[in-house]
Amino acid sequence: MILLDGKVASAAVKESIKQETDVLLANGKRAPHLAAILVGNNGASETYVASKVKNCEEVGFQSSLIRFDSDVDEETLLNQIIQLNNDTSVDGILVQLPLPKHISEAKVIETISPNKDVDGFHPINAGKLVQGLPSFIPATPYGIMLMLEHYNIQTKGKHAVVIGRSNIVGRPMSILLSSNLPYGNCTVTLCHSHTPNLNELCLQGDIVVAALGRPGFVKAEMVKEGAVIIDVGITRVTDETAKKGFRIKGDVAFDEVAAKAAAITPVPGGVGLMTIAGLLKNTLQAYKASIGV
Ligand code: GUN
Repeated sequence: MILLDGKVASAAVKESIKQETDVLLANGKRAPHLAAILVGNNGASETYVASKVKNCEEVGFQSSLIRFDSDVDEETLLNQIIQLNNDTSVDGILVQLPLPKHISEAKVIETISPNKDVDGFHPINAGKLVQGLPSFIPATPYGIMLMLEHYNIQTKGKHAVVIGRSNIVGRPMSILLSSNLPYGNCTVTLCHSHTPNLNELCLQGDIVVAALGRPGFVKAEMVKEGAVIIDVGITRVTDETAKKGFRIKGDVAFDEVAAKAAAITPVPGGVGLMTIAGLLKNTLQAYKASIGV
């Protein structure tokens, strides 16, 4: 069994980004710049955004964190995005989701300039992805593709089962795995909450991507011997014995599934780290387009 180690794979991606950035800086160019917007103080969102900012520093990017209280009105938030769209020193904009109920996520996403949409959530980027045109790929599916590439997991002609159809992970993942790409060309089954025979379908998967947000959902009896298992789950589960009072749990029952799998991502230390690698790649891509290199 191969452990698909997010620390190792993301370090390799980050090293290549850093090297490219160092050359640009040595040639007198400005640093790539990511602006992150965080609304409220959701614990998980705080952690993710802090990690994104820290990783920017590690590869030589500039970052800005713009915070709003959870009762910020939608117009104020949209105006801040418009200001960042017009700021030529900013390459990438991300608004951490979820947002408070009174703010329309769709409106927020559509206000971000598609050229700075490093999350790849704007309908223009989502549409380009569907048509196989160059676009920003949502960071988590992008990170998973980078993980498959790092470990040279063969995908052509394989049956990939994706569980979960979110715009952030499942749906773009299903499109990438079915696309004519070096680590694509799968036959894809996209399962969701209304799939009646999910266990049977999952059992047929040569590759299984679990992205439904239910801890331990994928059990050994749902997995084919020798399958490649990608666990996108990152649910906080209360645990009084843990220092922080919770543990991060994946969507896969790791120990029992690992015993059958050819390769599997751990949680934590798997896909989460690759998401950041995907985001950094997108930010570098936005920067290069912006300065014309
Ligand atoms: N919330 C959960 N995942 C993501 C992500 O990839 N980007 C943003 N902006 N918010 C998220």
